[in-house]
Amino acid sequence: MRHAVYPGTFDPITLGHLDIMARARAVFDQVTVAVLVNPRKHPSMDLDARIAVIRESLAELPGGEQGIEVISFGGLTVDLAHRLGAGSIVRGLRAISDFESELQMAQLNRRLAPDIDTVFFMTGIEHAYVSSTMVREIAALGGDVSSMVPRGVLRHLRP
Ligand code: PNS
Repeated sequence: MRHAVYPGTFDPITLGHLDIMARARAVFDQVTVAVLVNPRKHPSMDLDARIAVIRESLAELPGGEQGIEVISFGGLTVDLAHRLGAGSIVRGLRAISDFESELQMAQLNRRLAPDIDTVFFMTGIEHAYVSSTMVREIAALGGDVSSMVPRGVLRHLRP
């Protein structure tokens, strides 16, 4: 079975992330979306909310959650992949600017676990400039992010 882990902070999930999940599911039999528990990052949405919104958003995809599970994780992504028996790590690429940090992460993950490959998917061009950080900032300043995130995210961004 082709099994991939898609790790991330998802604070919050964007339509770009959802697009990557759908693209990865078309290639892998099983995709585990792994939401990072990272106390250093102080996410604005707590872990349970980030996971709940991802699950809710998947339900809106044609095919629903089929082939995609959502879990939390701490520690190294490669350790998680080994525990799950997943041979690949999925990451999304938007613009060239993502490439340097993603290349570094992929190379270091390969150093740690030569048996696991990182597979990149390109987001649709309409999502190429959307990031969780910008979504949080725009929403906090009263801007409309409804074209950037799944519907369920909106109630977490607006009081
Ligand atoms: O959504 P993000 O914040 O870009 O995701 C970053 C993430 C979760 C993929 C990265 O921080 C990560 O893999 N963290 C787990 C710890 C780890 O494995 N670090 C070594 C990476 S080389």
